[in-house]
Amino acid sequence: MTKISKCLFPVAGYGTRFLPATKAIPKEMLPILTKPLIQYGVEEAMSAGINTMVMVTSQYKQAIKHHFEAHVEIESSIQGTAKASLLDEVNYAIKHCEFGYIEQAQMLGLGHAIYTGQVLIGDEPFAVILPDDLCTNDGNSVLKQMISLHTQYPDCCIVAIEEVPMADVDKYGVIEGELLAGSEDAYRVHAMVEKPSPMDAPTNLAIIGRYILTTEIFDALEDTQPDKNGEIQITDALMLLAKQGKVIAYKFQGKRYDCGNVKGFVLATNAFAHAQGMI
Ligand code: G1P
Repeated sequence: MTKISKCLFPVAGYGTRFLPATKAIPKEMLPILTKPLIQYGVEEAMSAGINTMVMVTSQYKQAIKHHFEAHVEIESSIQGTAKASLLDEVNYAIKHCEFGYIEQAQMLGLGHAIYTGQVLIGDEPFAVILPDDLCTNDGNSVLKQMISLHTQYPDCCIVAIEEVPMADVDKYGVIEGELLAGSEDAYRVHAMVEKPSPMDAPTNLAIIGRYILTTEIFDALEDTQPDKNGEIQITDALMLLAKQGKVIAYKFQGKRYDCGNVKGFVLATNAFAHAQGMI
């Protein structure tokens, strides 16, 4: 049984929905309150026992790398002040994790981004977090829940799903499957389709940005044809494995905020501010 020790973050995209904010700042560095989205993602991975973070990034997004490096000048300027603890969490991540970076030279889709990371992932199952999808929990993090399912089904990839309004299915990968015997939240996937129209969608069970992938995904990605926009979709590659019964969809416990659009980002900001008693 191989432990999941690496998490891949596809963070090369331009974040055009957030322009002009994202002209010079990676969208993953936009903060919910004071913490950037990427740090929430890294902390979720750490909560699941992962200590190697693989960033599939682009030359324009050096700020992500800088965020996970020590900053001696700032640290000495806040030392001994009321602000001294504000870097504790990110410094904890820096101390306990390895960070690897690889550039995705062309924007050819999520599947292509994941394939680009193969050189740093190697020959072991791994997790993927899309930091746009910010998840909160009272109990175990979404990734931790998924890893515990993966230990029962080590030959399977796991995708996180949630029910969305039928009108919104065209924003997501959508799955169709049957509940595993005795389970109320895990489905053996039969079919999956990327961003179907509501009329064509088999269900309203939408994939959110958390995956556990076995190394078989890399061969599947090689066999996956680009979609009509020339992009390689991870959903299409997973469909090849689903045909062999090797994909499980898991309805996670917790709440997800879609911080990939302005409205979701504002909702997350409000919810976090409320939770901290700020507003
Ligand atoms: C990607 C995936 C999609 C998934 C979504 C979750 O789409 O391609 O299957 O449902 O992430 O956030 P994107 O949001 O990058 O267009």
